[in-house]
Amino acid sequence: MYKLVPNFSLKDHNSFGVDAGASYWLTLTSPDSWKEAIARYPHLLQEERLIIGGGTNLLFLSDYDGLIIGTDICGYSIAYQDSTIVDITVGSGVDWDDFVAYCVENGWYGVENLSLIPGKVGAAPVQNIGAYGAEAASVIHCVDGINLDTCEPECYSHDQCRFSYRSSIFKEKLSGKFMITAVTFRLKKQGEVDSSYGDMKRIITDLGEPNLLNLRRAVIQIRESKLPDPRKVGNAGSFFKNPVVTEEVAWALEELLPGLPVYQLSEGYVKIGAGFLIEKAGWKGVQMGHAAVHDRQALVLVNRGGATGQDIFELSLAIQKDIFEKYGVALEREVQVIE
Ligand code: EPU
Repeated sequence: MYKLVPNFSLKDHNSFGVDAGASYWLTLTSPDSWKEAIARYPHLLQEERLIIGGGTNLLFLSDYDGLIIGTDICGYSIAYQDSTIVDITVGSGVDWDDFVAYCVENGWYGVENLSLIPGKVGAAPVQNIGAYGAEAASVIHCVDGINLDTCEPECYSHDQCRFSYRSSIFKEKLSGKFMITAVTFRLKKQGEVDSSYGDMKRIITDLGEPNLLNLRRAVIQIRESKLPDPRKVGNAGSFFKNPVVTEEVAWALEELLPGLPVYQLSEGYVKIGAGFLIEKAGWKGVQMGHAAVHDRQALVLVNRGGATGQDIFELSLAIQKDIFEKYGVALEREVQVIE
């Protein structure tokens, strides 16, 4: 089954709440839907394509002249389990945080630090979502989907997904070519929660036992205190990635900006806190047109109401330019800009 709508409004389908349109919107409700839709409307194969999850990481600069494909493929099934692990296959259209809540209720370890991230399960492997010391890549066992050119199903093993910081083969080589229909996660039945990030340990201690439920509660508390709720204030989480620089560059910046967050990576390289740089450059809370820098987390750009994609984009360019001029650091976007 599928649903095809021409001249579709994207306003309620992008978390920035930007008012843009698309020539066609196609919702898939089963892995066979694409083949069925193409059999009936073969011209869709010629359209420019964009695959969308919850629309929580996209910025539309104008109307999209092409086909947007979304997923409503739902459901959970256990692919394998023994006394220590469970492999659970989840439909790409399931709400990510509903899935996290389900795992926590079942006492399965692995996704609790990723609580409250907006979006759908199908988007988790694409941008390798991450937060509070965890990344989706570490629990993704394999990814099922449809090759949109051949209409055939394909499965990517963990290694074939080529995960990296906020990226994967699905965001790069397979962008617009592969529609994820289900993700299989390998979770642990026993374990310990990871509360090593920031002041998480202290928050959990205040809540009680360091268990799955309290870890989830702590993450929700931190996120709600820093990040705007996209249902109330249009945003797409971090607009930029935390830049990777050499240790030498980080040392020089630390001299200039004491307290700069620095995270060790592979030899000689570190990741630095982009939000810190943007705040120090004086951008926190700054508004340009109807777009603004969030006043509690400078890595997040918000729609203060009525902002166009262009307003938000221009603000982002001004920030990139200023950070480069002040600190010599090139900020890379995390949000995907659709021109
Ligand atoms: N900081 C500032 N000012 C700011 C923002 C941050 O000084 O305006 C400092 C904080 O004080 C803290 C450090 O920077 O010392 C890190 O801040 P935070 O914990 O908020 O995390 P982040 O590095 O800014 C990343 C992810 C977030 C994720 C958090 C928590 C990226 C691009 N962003 O942000 O992910 O929730 O860590 O793990 O990696 C997202 O991807 O959309 C997202 C929200």
